[in-house]
Amino acid sequence: MYSADTLRIDELPAEERAVYATLKLDRLPEHVAIIMDGNGRWAGHRSLKRFLGHQQGANSVQLVTETAARIGIPWLTLYAFSLENNLRRPRAEVNFLMRLLKTYLENNLQRMLDNNIRMKYIGRTHELPAEVQEKMCWAEQATARNTGTTLTLALNYGGRSELVDAFRSLAAEMKVKHLRPEEISEEDIHRHLYTADMPDPDLLIRTSGEMRLSNYLLWQIAYTEIFVTERLWPDFRGIHLLEAIADFQRRDRRYGGLGEGCGEVEEDPDRIKIVAS
Ligand code: FPP
Repeated sequence: MYSADTLRIDELPAEERAVYATLKLDRLPEHVAIIMDGNGRWAGHRSLKRFLGHQQGANSVQLVTETAARIGIPWLTLYAFSLENNLRRPRAEVNFLMRLLKTYLENNLQRMLDNNIRMKYIGRTHELPAEVQEKMCWAEQATARNTGTTLTLALNYGGRSELVDAFRSLAAEMKVKHLRPEEISEEDIHRHLYTADMPDPDLLIRTSGEMRLSNYLLWQIAYTEIFVTERLWPDFRGIHLLEAIADFQRRDRRYGGLGEGCGEVEEDPDRIKIVAS
């Protein structure tokens, strides 16, 4: 966790500071994941080309990331480009998204450094165009020593393909170490995921109102709280992240157990007669 002197609350805009002041600081999520959706609709509502929605969406990425960094969220993981986007969108849109990513990294590196943000990526990034990979590497290396928020961009990412990759590498390890299937644990699977060094997300935000997981972090979100907002991603700002965190803090997380205040079972359950229905 962050120490108070690394936080930069005074840099939050006044309206964000007001929401921040309502939060329980000992219950901030450690890891927030976001499905950024609605760029196309945002553009469509304004009779603009979809590209302009993506461009505006890149602006939201930076603003939301900076709010997360200022309040000390250790991990922020954004779904920036799925395997399905890569396979199913028109080539012109995919090419634009690749160019946008490159420009985004070039233009925002200094802001990442100023905000102590470390950049990482998950997904089959080796399949992206070489010049995009070079720029990604450049930004990752330049921010590697930063100690604040880790911003992970999921690029050419799919939850099922992540599991396939994890099982392939686990199978290879089993062969070398002569392990038997019954020796495999959940921890072994976790070690082979792209997210092996991260905690699971506490909070998953999805913009634009769709009630879908869209193949995002399927293993990792087993006990994640989900927050869906109608707001389209290009309109999403730091204040909306803070509001989602406030909502998250009102939830009673149970992990399959009993919630707070439900700890005591008053009667001896063995004495309760089960009535067949
Ligand atoms: C969904 O909008 C969004 C994406 C395809 C991925 C997110 C991309 C960005 C926020 C832009 C750039 C990001 C970076 C990191 C530079 P959609 O096109 O599916 O919207 P729609 O459902 O309204 O059509």
